[in-house]
Amino acid sequence: MADLSPRDVRVSDLLQHDGQTVRLRGWLFNSRGKGKLIFLLLRDGSGICQAVVLRSEVGEEQFEAAKALTQESSFEVVGEVKADERAPGGAELKVASLRVHQIAEPYPITKKEHGPGFLMDHRHLWLRSKRQMALLRLRHRVIQAFRGYLDGQGYFCVDSPMFTPNACEGTSTLFKTDYFGEEAFLTQSGQLYAEASAMALGKVYCFGPVFRAEKSKTRRHLTEFWMLEPEIAFAGLDEVCDLAEGMIRHTIRHLLVHGAQDLADLERDPEVLRGWDRDFPRLRYHEAADLLLEWQQEGRCESDFARGDDLGAPDETALGEHFGCPVMVTHWPAEVKAFYMKRDPEDPSLALGVDIIAPTAGEIVGGSVREDDLGALLERIQAHELPQEAFEWFLDLRRYGSVPHGGFGIGLERTVSWLSGVEHVRECIPFPRTLQRIYP
Ligand code: 4AD
Ligand code: MG
Repeated sequence: MADLSPRDVRVSDLLQHDGQTVRLRGWLFNSRGKGKLIFLLLRDGSGICQAVVLRSEVGEEQFEAAKALTQESSFEVVGEVKADERAPGGAELKVASLRVHQIAEPYPITKKEHGPGFLMDHRHLWLRSKRQMALLRLRHRVIQAFRGYLDGQGYFCVDSPMFTPNACEGTSTLFKTDYFGEEAFLTQSGQLYAEASAMALGKVYCFGPVFRAEKSKTRRHLTEFWMLEPEIAFAGLDEVCDLAEGMIRHTIRHLLVHGAQDLADLERDPEVLRGWDRDFPRLRYHEAADLLLEWQQEGRCESDFARGDDLGAPDETALGEHFGCPVMVTHWPAEVKAFYMKRDPEDPSLALGVDIIAPTAGEIVGGSVREDDLGALLERIQAHELPQEAFEWFLDLRRYGSVPHGGFGIGLERTVSWLSGVEHVRECIPFPRTLQRIYP
């Protein structure tokens, strides 16, 4: 006997079922119509479909039920798929029957303008708006691309712990926790553990949430964000830079193919992204400083940058704008960088670090060659007044088969912000944690 129950499909797959009877399940995005005809815009997370309800097709009772659907009411419809170029997504559904799951109460987020505070307080509902859904999908695709690229290059995913007894990126942004009566911290970076994993498996990455007690209230700072951190045994600065560039360019291409609809929903011109898929300029810190100081003099860059300083947001913006694509800044003054970075053998005042600065988004990648010499690392730990006991395990990596190695961390939300053109990182993570916010 033939199976008469309609097949469940997602909106994104609708076109593949032209002419077939299928079931869609989702929520009411919007509706319009009167008299004998209603258009229901159903969203199911994969897209938005126009479902056409005719009184003559569904009968009086179901037609009234369709009319009674409020914004975000949950329901399902069975009907025939009809390809139609004019319909959003290229197909619509001719509804044969409809079933209501729940009639939503008056929805707090409407078509009218809402302030960011209101939207953030309703983040759990805001996620259902077109732009936020597109951003969530884009974020997923960026993760897919990061991992896909590294997996394809033979990297193993080995994750690092979130609770740690030691600092990685300086002690000023540590979240302290009570670990059964002992002091512990939420990790700022999985790097130190990724170094241990790299000594086991050669090429690894970790990917997870990291925590920074950042007092900065900028559009680029979260207190909890996601970072992917590859670590490569037997690598120098060039290998680290090549891997980061390859991964970012792969991500751009991945989005152009698999995220085209999401980019369109975000009104992001794909040509902008395509333009960044080229060799990233590489310059040393001192060359970047020359440029910045020149622009300062010409009044083209308003910042109080002085040679030797870390780059501030206006400096990153100026560099990003000037090159119009991501740039790599290498060979930094050691004082502004972390304790674990290896010094340049040709000039020990410099650290073999690299930051990638992206137009509008600023720094998206921080990486380096790691100090692999036991004595030098011990000195660094002492100079930074870090507790040596907490780092004994890390020092062991230099005692037992130390090799030149390096890696980087790429901030997921900064990358999503950059590629999507959505300027504030708080929209690039499902539930942002910032200086002012831990709800919802
Ligand atoms: O430059 P950072 O601090 O580097 C590290 O943590 C290294 N241990 C990584 C490594 O070599 N394995 O951070 C790396 C990236 C930044 O370039 C930025 O993209 C992101 O993490 N990031 C933040 N993103 C959002 N909010 C913040 N407060 C961030 N701080 C850093
Ligand atoms: Mg950094």
